[in-house]
Amino acid sequence: MIQETTQKIGVYPGSFDPITFGHLDIIERSSRMFDKLVVGVLVNNAKKPLFSADERVRMIQNVTSHLPNVEVRSFSGLTVDFVKNEGARVIVRGLRAITDFEYELQMAQTNHTMCPGLDTIFLTTDLRYAYLSSSIVREVAYYDGKIDQFVPAEVVPLIRERCRLLKQK
Ligand code: PNS
Repeated sequence: MIQETTQKIGVYPGSFDPITFGHLDIIERSSRMFDKLVVGVLVNNAKKPLFSADERVRMIQNVTSHLPNVEVRSFSGLTVDFVKNEGARVIVRGLRAITDFEYELQMAQTNHTMCPGLDTIFLTTDLRYAYLSSSIVREVAYYDGKIDQFVPAEVVPLIRERCRLLKQK
């Protein structure tokens, strides 16, 4: 059961490994649609992320500190359970291109089937970031390419340092 709340709460779930300007744009725009937007950072044990969930949470908190109604938390398990626990009914996702659509539709329909009280809304990514993904950023950074145009300035040195450590292994 979803707890009724007077606040309109949206949840933006994702891996955010690392957060990009594309994610930040979705956070900024969707935060204007809700009283509170919760960014949910997935703790995915199956994948080996570049950053731990706590590190990702801190990074997102840093770059969203200008948005007073945005909260950032990590979660594990099903997104629908996290969303329900937050007292929300709406999941926010960004859509970049038609290639995202099939996977996003499948997720939205699965989530809606598991929890009919929840809906997913999609924001089309700003054209400036239509090509951008965390995996592209990780790859460019790993090979020492410039990433300032992809991620917020505070995040750049953290990615650089993590890639340096990765190469030492
Ligand atoms: O940023 P991403 O990696 O595209 O985000 C994907 C995410 C975290 C939204 C998705 O993998 C997810 O919801 N994972 C949690 C497990 C779950 O609920 N799976 C069922 C949805 S089909």
